[in-house]
Amino acid sequence: MPKKDSASRVIVALDLTDLNSARELLQKLKGVIGFYKIGFEFFTAHGWKAVELVREFGSKVFLDLKLHDIPTTVAKTAAVICDHEVDMFNVHALGGIEMMKKTRQAVDECTKKGKKKPMVLGVTILTSHNQDVLSKELGIARLLSEEVMALTRLVKSAGLDGVVCSPEETPALRKEFPSGFTLVTPGVRPGESSRDDQRRVMTPLCAIESGSDYLVIGRPIVQSPDPRKAAELIVSEINS
Ligand code: C5P
Repeated sequence: MPKKDSASRVIVALDLTDLNSARELLQKLKGVIGFYKIGFEFFTAHGWKAVELVREFGSKVFLDLKLHDIPTTVAKTAAVICDHEVDMFNVHALGGIEMMKKTRQAVDECTKKGKKKPMVLGVTILTSHNQDVLSKELGIARLLSEEVMALTRLVKSAGLDGVVCSPEETPALRKEFPSGFTLVTPGVRPGESSRDDQRRVMTPLCAIESGSDYLVIGRPIVQSPDPRKAAELIVSEINS
């Protein structure tokens, strides 16, 4: 994978519902951040308008809808997403290999028709889950780290481009997949900031050093009294 500059490795999670607030934030972060994640909140509030807004600022879009349904439904949805030419989107690895393979096929067919090729990621285990949630609540028998590795192997064998995982898991995943496989990590918290509802967290620099290609950062920037300064600090920490 080509080396990216530090600023392009930070993806800001636009977890907002108000279009004007999002526009203000994009304005504040202009020139510092060039990649934004649009998730459920923003997308269900404004649909493709949210995507267009990010593009108005010349920035890239990660559409974080974490698709998880029967294979045909997810593949058809993936084709619609491809038609809109986003830069990155994701499906849940727990949807299984057939669902992910069909997604890959749908994306490849769209690309053959001339649409931009998005990066397609599998979500492993949410960073708000820890071992207790996995075993006691969800009844998943494997250790969290083993479950993440098993799901990542599934994602890779389905031909997807990478995974969304916690930075705690990136060293092991990077060791098994040293190149050509993208690791995107939420659960990133600069030194002093609150963990919020995240349970498996790491600082930006540690996350990059442990093998993450892209960091997804929401509240530490979006809810900061000075989002531009918060973003600049994170970018310069990664640069160091
Ligand atoms: O505010 P915070 O930095 O915790 O935001 C993290 C973002 O990453 C949220 O938008 C959340 O939906 C997303 N995410 C996550 N864990 C995953 C996948 C996505 O926290 N495994």
